[in-house]
Amino acid sequence: MQYTQTAKKLTAEEKLRLLVSFGTRISSEIRLDHLLNSIARQIAQILDVGRCIIFLIDPDREELWSKIAQGKGLAYTEIRMPLTTKGIISHVAKTGETINLQNAYEDPRFSMAIDMVTDFRTHSLLAVPLKNNTGKVLGVFQVANKADDLPFDRNDEGILLLLSTLASSSIEIATLYQELYGAQLETLYRLAITAEYRDQQDTRSHLKNISIISFLLAGTLGMPKHEAEIIKNASTLHDIGKVALADNILLKPGKLTPEEFEKMKEHTIYGGKILEGAKSKILQVAYKMSMYHHEKWNGKGYPKGLKGEEIPLEARIVTVADVFDALCQFRVYKDAWKTQDAYEYMLKESGHSFDPRVVAAFKKIYPAIRKLYSHIPVNQMTGPFPGDENIPTENTVIRMTQQD
Ligand code: C2E
Ligand code: SIN
Ligand code: SIN
Ligand code: FE
Repeated sequence: MQYTQTAKKLTAEEKLRLLVSFGTRISSEIRLDHLLNSIARQIAQILDVGRCIIFLIDPDREELWSKIAQGKGLAYTEIRMPLTTKGIISHVAKTGETINLQNAYEDPRFSMAIDMVTDFRTHSLLAVPLKNNTGKVLGVFQVANKADDLPFDRNDEGILLLLSTLASSSIEIATLYQELYGAQLETLYRLAITAEYRDQQDTRSHLKNISIISFLLAGTLGMPKHEAEIIKNASTLHDIGKVALADNILLKPGKLTPEEFEKMKEHTIYGGKILEGAKSKILQVAYKMSMYHHEKWNGKGYPKGLKGEEIPLEARIVTVADVFDALCQFRVYKDAWKTQDAYEYMLKESGHSFDPRVVAAFKKIYPAIRKLYSHIPVNQMTGPFPGDENIPTENTVIRMTQQD
């Protein structure tokens, strides 16, 4: 994670105040990306340097990684290099030693790769290990280009080591939290696949489309990003109740009889039973979605015939995503519709099947949706969150090798 210093010069007193508040500020942040950003920003201010990059060791892959902003408006790019690389960073990570260079380009171990990617010219460079309280190296803090072109001195080394020690437990906690959260999402996603794979050719794209549309709808409706993220992750489970349906109904290649359709409707009740009383926030939202995603705004849906705002908003959102995607995809009982026809159907059903506010939001995001369905990579799409131009799906990863 890097931060490039652009702020004004600070007085010694201001620096001291920053140093004192450093621990308090970082201990309140549990999201790893935000934490690393905050640490890098504060270090750049306290040490008055042109750039601060934090590398962490990924023990599973035996790599060092960081996120680098490539320029204004561009997404963070993940940089990864094997621990065995012959560079400054990997040397510090392997040995736990500090490296202090007055002119980085004169040192044969220095790699220009990151400078090239970020359009930055490193002069002085200081890299210290990030160690936890048992002395294990977790990563590397690297700062470059001290103000006034001075070399880094003993004092700077001491401060950077102190800051890395202060930051280490927060970084360890945030890393653990991220791993747990990732494991939870993976479990939910695999559960969602279980529910969908019997009746769908392309389960992955169905789940991906539904979660992206739901996320964009939530953001456009003004929900804060963390709530939109919950909606995104919960939406994949809306049809979990289908696991309880018999093959002769779910996989019937033609139209269902009225009796069969009554059985089909029960997937909402089954989903509700599976998720009822859940403790986690994502599963609580998934409960509302699976129970009520076939209710209609006009009260003619199922299982309860709820009307208008009696239907939870989360369910009104996922309905729009689900029906649009179902129309666009092939099913054993129907052909895929043209995207434009499906779009027109959504507009026509505003105020009948669907909440007019959600359809209005769908109309706004439709340019992005059309791209999604024409297989343009999603990370080139524009999201609805101000200042967040990219939908965080696939990260760009730059790999650095020995030769770099
Ligand atoms: P699904 O295939 O995922 O479809 C979800 C929802 O998308 C449907 O909910 C419906 O609101 C909408 N939808 C899908 N295809 C069409 C279509 O061709 N025309 C229109 N107007 N809307 C469409 P619905 O109807 O409550 O159905 C729920 C689930 O029941 C469907 O999920 C599907 O698994 C099953 N199903 C519905 N009709 C049939 C059928 O005729 N044959 C079979 N084998 N299954 C059906
Ligand atoms: C990891 O590789 O351990 C995490 C990478 C990330 O945060 O993107
Ligand atoms: C309506 O009943 O008003 C229209 C809803 C639908 O066609 O499903
Ligand atoms: Fe359903």
